[in-house]
Amino acid sequence: MAKVDTSSSRPYHIVIFGASGFTGQFVVEEVARTVSEGPNGTLTWAVAGRSPQKLDKVLEQAAGTLGKPELRTAVEVIVADVGEPDSLAAMCKQAVIVLNCVGPYRFWGEPVVKACVENGAHCIDICGEPQFLESMQLNYDSQAADKGVYIVGACGFDSIPADMGVIYTRDQFKGTLTALESFLTASTGPEGGSINDGTWKSAIYGFADSGKLRSLRKKFGHKPLPVVGSKIKRRSALFYSNEVQQYAVPFMGADPSVVKRSQRFLLEEHQETPVQYGAYAGVGGVANIVKMLFAGMMFWFLVKFSFGRDLLIKYPEFFSFGFFSKDGPTRKQMEGSSFKFAFYGEGYTEGQDPSQGRPNAKIRTLVQGPEAGYVATPIAMVQAAITILNEPTALPKKGGVYTPGATFAKTKLVERLNKHGIQFSVI
Ligand SMILES: NC(=O)c1ccc[n+]([C@@H]2O[C@H](COP(=O)([O-])OP(=O)(O)OC[C@H]3O[C@@H](n4cnc5c(N)ncnc54)[C@H](OP(=O)(O)O)[C@@H]3O)[C@@H](O)[C@H]2O)c1
Repeated sequence: MAKVDTSSSRPYHIVIFGASGFTGQFVVEEVARTVSEGPNGTLTWAVAGRSPQKLDKVLEQAAGTLGKPELRTAVEVIVADVGEPDSLAAMCKQAVIVLNCVGPYRFWGEPVVKACVENGAHCIDICGEPQFLESMQLNYDSQAADKGVYIVGACGFDSIPADMGVIYTRDQFKGTLTALESFLTASTGPEGGSINDGTWKSAIYGFADSGKLRSLRKKFGHKPLPVVGSKIKRRSALFYSNEVQQYAVPFMGADPSVVKRSQRFLLEEHQETPVQYGAYAGVGGVANIVKMLFAGMMFWFLVKFSFGRDLLIKYPEFFSFGFFSKDGPTRKQMEGSSFKFAFYGEGYTEGQDPSQGRPNAKIRTLVQGPEAGYVATPIAMVQAAITILNEPTALPKKGGVYTPGATFAKTKLVERLNKHGIQFSVI
């Protein structure tokens, strides 16, 4: 049985590792805003990373932005480096939960998972790299179970809105939901927007290594998930979506693989009918398609070679048409940005046998929220931690390496997110 020990045996409920990173700084602010939601209305927390000077600067900035001068002195700074296992162990021993913001995870993630498992700290990350997420499950699931530790990956924009969106839609459907498609659209204000190059680097190395994912998956030895109800139709590589009134493509991120792992867990652990899932992203009009094709071709070509990857990393703005940048979005850009997942589901009403005939009922839901990378992601990550701290009996019975859906399906995470501006609704 996993244990979430919120007594005083560990000084901090939360330690934010990689707090000096672009995303880490916003996670710090989100934790500072959320302290009253900790167990018994309080949250003890610290920041960690390899540079104490940078961490002090982040606290200084958060103090100014939030008008909380006490952050400058009241928050402890823990020095820990991924390359120094003893420093990671010392950090993990002090935390109930480590929020790991150090990426690309394929390079820096494993020592943190290992240290958390060995030292009894739960771990939440915001990884969007299926290869890392699945290899951690393969290599650490049973050790995490033995230690009663939850290692929960993909707790940012990748993949909480999609994974919890599928579970929310299923829970709202009166009957058996068997298939669901999501259409993601993002919008920016007059100032535009961008994504910091930490995510760009993760994507570059992820695509470069995508061949290894197939062999990794074979090692699980999973049988295919059973198809219940009519089989979902896969859309083409580019199509006009009436759902979002723009062109759309299959979503290339981690969401489909995370959702599938959650559905497998819910089938195996709770005998719940797996939902077939198709994920798509709106890309806008013809001008955007031309840009996307051009950028995509360059990316596919360059990512294969080490010199190409160096070029992509050196000039993110150029190769992504400004979509990614070394400085990330400004606060003004973030204020004007938002995302929307439109879910279209179908299934069988109560009493109707899903093995007979076509689905006879539909459902539409929405998950929408603020700017994805640095507003919604910190909210999702911090609310995931708050849920572990406050709802230990609603979590999986034993520790392990889990997806958000597997960890939080039986919790009030969706309600918590609704209160923080990531809204789930039936339309
Ligand atoms: N799921 C999502 O939707 C989502 C959203 C945003 C970000 N992310 C992911 O989050 C990760 C971070 O992105 P980012 O843009 O914040 O990147 P970033 O600005 O480059 O930050 C990286 C962080 O890692 C730290 N770090 C690097 N090597 C380290 C080491 N050896 N020991 C300790 N700390 C080390 C850096 O410390 P220094 O400051 O000392 O260099 C920095 O704090 C990426 O994997 C990205 O894909 C995911």
